[in-house]
Amino acid sequence: MHLEYSAGFVIYKKSESGLEFLFLRKSNSDIDIPKGHIEKGENALRAAIRETREETGLEVKPDPFFNMRRYYWFRFGGDTVKKYLTVFLSPYIGGEVRISSEHKGYEWIEPEKAVLEYKKRGYNYDHIEESLRYIEKREKLDKINAIYAKLPESDPNWSLSKKLVKGEGPSNARIMVVGQAPGANEDATGRPFVGRAGKLLDSLLRSAGIMRKKAYITSVVQFFPYGNRMPTDHEVELCKPFLKEQISVIKPKLIITLGSLSSEVLCGVKSIKSNHGTVTEIGGIKYFSTLHPAAAVRIKTNMPIIKGDFEKLKPLAKEALSDKKEKQNLARKK
Ligand code: URA
Repeated sequence: MHLEYSAGFVIYKKSESGLEFLFLRKSNSDIDIPKGHIEKGENALRAAIRETREETGLEVKPDPFFNMRRYYWFRFGGDTVKKYLTVFLSPYIGGEVRISSEHKGYEWIEPEKAVLEYKKRGYNYDHIEESLRYIEKREKLDKINAIYAKLPESDPNWSLSKKLVKGEGPSNARIMVVGQAPGANEDATGRPFVGRAGKLLDSLLRSAGIMRKKAYITSVVQFFPYGNRMPTDHEVELCKPFLKEQISVIKPKLIITLGSLSSEVLCGVKSIKSNHGTVTEIGGIKYFSTLHPAAAVRIKTNMPIIKGDFEKLKPLAKEALSDKKEKQNLARKK
C-alpha cells in the first residue's frame, strides 16, 4: 500500500438558473474538478492553485475557511493506493477557460446534476454537496448580517457602536465560540476577538485541539459597547435573535460560551464562577461554558482556571470535529 496526496478546487459561479460549478470532462467521459498531485515541497493549497492554473488556465480566490479532506482507495499496478484529496473553494473570478491536453473539454454544471452524474458512474464523493451546502449557508449568514447591520437605525436610543462586528469562520463549522461583545480593537478592525483576549482565545483553542480557522467566532452582542460595559438587557434582547439565527444556519455540534452573559443567554448557566467547565446539552448541541478570556487577561488567578477548562474541552472538541464521513472510504476508483 502506498499513499498519494492530491488537491483541487471547486470553482463556482452564479448564472440565471442558479449556481454552476466548473468541471473538466476526462477522456473516459467522467467529470472531475481541477485537481492533481501535491508535489514535494508544496502544500495542498499551492498544489491546488497550480493544478487549477495548469488544467483550466484560471486563477482562483480561495475561500479562507473552506477546506475539506477526504480519502479513497484504488488499485494500481498490483499495489493498493490510499489517496488523500483536499478540496478548496473559489468563486469564478473571470478569464477564459483553457484546458490542457489531459481533458476533452469543460462544462459549467449545476451541482445537483453533477452529483447525479458522479453517482451514475459509481462515485461517492461528497465535495460537491459539501461545497453547495457551505455556499448556501454563507449566503444565509450574509443575509442575516445585512439585516443585523441596520439594527442601530431601528432604535433612536442606540448607544452601542453602529459598526457590526460580523462573526468569522466557516459557515459549516462544527464548533462555535460565543463571547460577550466586541471591544475597541474589534470595533476598529471589524473582526471578532483580535485584541489581547483574542490572542489568548487563539492559544486556548489550540491547546484544546481547535484551529481558530475551524471555529465560527461571534458574540451575543455584535456592536461595541463603548467603555467595554456590559450590554443592557434591552440590547441583549435586540441582538439575541440574530445570534440564534446564526446558530440555526451553522448547526454546530459544540458551542463554547465565554463568560457569564453568553453562558446565561445560550444555555441558562448562572454564575459562571461556580459553573465554569460544565456541559449543557440542548436540542442536540453541547454547550461548554467557561470564563471569558478577558477575565483571565485582567485577573491572573483566572488563568489556571480557564486553562483547566480548555484541557477538559479536548475530548468534546475531538468528538465535534471528527466526522466518520471524513474517515470512511468514500469512493473506490474503478
Ligand atoms: N470579546 C468578546 O466577547 N467578543 C469579541 O468579539 C471580542 C472580545
